[in-house]
Amino acid sequence: MDNRELVEIAKKTGENAYAPYSNFKVGAALLTKSGNVYQGCNIENSSYGLTICAERVAISNAVSNGEKEFIKMAIVGSFAKGHERETGEENIQEIAKKDMQKSEDILLPCGACMQIMSEFNPDLELILLNTVGKIITINLKELFPKPFKL
Ligand code: THU
Repeated sequence: MDNRELVEIAKKTGENAYAPYSNFKVGAALLTKSGNVYQGCNIENSSYGLTICAERVAISNAVSNGEKEFIKMAIVGSFAKGHERETGEENIQEIAKKDMQKSEDILLPCGACMQIMSEFNPDLELILLNTVGKIITINLKELFPKPFKL
């Protein structure tokens, strides 16, 4: 399973997101050691704090199916059709010129999700997309070097 394929699965899963409050739809695809892929999308709630992120849904799916050895996770998010943020042509070109590894124009997982990923694999490889569609890979350890531990 290459990174592009995993990103495509995450993108497709994001279409199922239930995000009527933020209109921001996220999909995650988690590859396990056995070669299976578990999907997740964000599920919002009118009691906002109960919202679940796509990454945690994907992990819950994997664990519920008896899998705990995670290799990599693709995460893709975007505003739903008709709710896109304005990005001027100039801005897109500026972004494209930047060193994407340093760019902030990437959807990064939230802290709660990183803590949960880290529980199973602190070295999880994250496959992300920047705003111009380039794939960025980053190790969880780099983003979240010091998880809480009991
Ligand atoms: N969200 C995710 O699903 N994953 C992330 O990595 C960041 C945020 C969701 C939560 C909420 O439904 C929406 O995106 C806006 O915060």
